[in-house]
Amino acid sequence: MKLLLLGANGQLGLALLQQLKQPRQLQQRQQFQYLALNRSQLDITDMSAVATVMAQYRPDVIINCAAYTAVDNAELQAATCIAVNATAVGHLAKLCQQYNSLLLQFSTDYVFNGQSSKAYTEQDIPAPLNVYGQSKLQAEQSVQATCSKYVILRTSWLFSEFGHNFYRTMLKLAQRGQIIQVINDQFGCPTYAGDLAVIVLQLLQRYQQQGSLAYGIYHLAGNPAVSWYQFAEAIFAAHQLKVNLQAVCSTNWASPALRPTNSVLNCDGMANTFNISSPAWRPALDSLVAQF
Ligand SMILES: NC(=O)c1ccc[n+]([C@@H]2O[C@H](COP(=O)([O-])OP(=O)(O)OC[C@H]3O[C@@H](n4cnc5c(N)ncnc54)[C@H](OP(=O)(O)O)[C@@H]3O)[C@@H](O)[C@H]2O)c1
Repeated sequence: MKLLLLGANGQLGLALLQQLKQPRQLQQRQQFQYLALNRSQLDITDMSAVATVMAQYRPDVIINCAAYTAVDNAELQAATCIAVNATAVGHLAKLCQQYNSLLLQFSTDYVFNGQSSKAYTEQDIPAPLNVYGQSKLQAEQSVQATCSKYVILRTSWLFSEFGHNFYRTMLKLAQRGQIIQVINDQFGCPTYAGDLAVIVLQLLQRYQQQGSLAYGIYHLAGNPAVSWYQFAEAIFAAHQLKVNLQAVCSTNWASPALRPTNSVLNCDGMANTFNISSPAWRPALDSLVAQF
């Protein structure tokens, strides 16, 4: 089975590449043929270049890890964000339909407005608060409208050894020895990109074996849910770092993009359909610490 991995130099792209090269799970040592392209090799907004790669490589699956993920900058660069996250994904969906390829797309907890008192299920109505969330919702809708074979995984609070993420930011801030202020009234599910990569490969193996999947939108995020402040506490505790950590309220934290107060994802749909449960993020954090 041939995979086309887009956005291969991002956090999730690199985690997937690592998993494709050296699978953590023995049963995943079955090789997939893949072509991994980063932004400089293929800009997904360049529609003719994308169409050419599709026509030449004819992938069975597109795994789209390319995205505009700078949530605050997106408020100022809405057109760029929508071009990458929504318009280009709509084009990928059309090509997948044309070539009978499976589209594996990633979406976000930020499609929700955070006003619910419960964890969000796939049946809850999205109502994004910011441009990034709107662009990702638009992508979901165009994939659903265009493509017969798709899986959209909504994930949240990705962290890993790669790229820009909250985990790495906290470690950098700790080195500066200053007070670290972190929001304590927004709750979500940290998700280790490596765990997500393992699960993606499990889904692909199933697709390869069965020739189909239960297509649709699924929530896939780590557990347990915490506030950003609690996540920071866990990071510093795992690394045995003594820092001056202060909890702050989001109303006292000026940022261009509004963020949901509660973006906890209920992952029962994934468990019921695929027997894949939400990955615990603390063991992943501990294994990252062991690498330092
Ligand atoms: N990070 C999170 O906390 C989080 C939470 C929920 C959902 N998600 C979703 O999960 C997926 C993976 O996120 P991530 O954390 O891996 O993001 P990331 O680290 O920002 O990686 C995104 C990659 O996309 C590339 N890219 C941007 N514009 C492109 C374009 N026009 N053509 C081709 N590539 C382009 C970027 O290239 P450069 O390296 O050149 O910038 C980057 O390598 C995304 O769909 C994201 O929306 C992420």
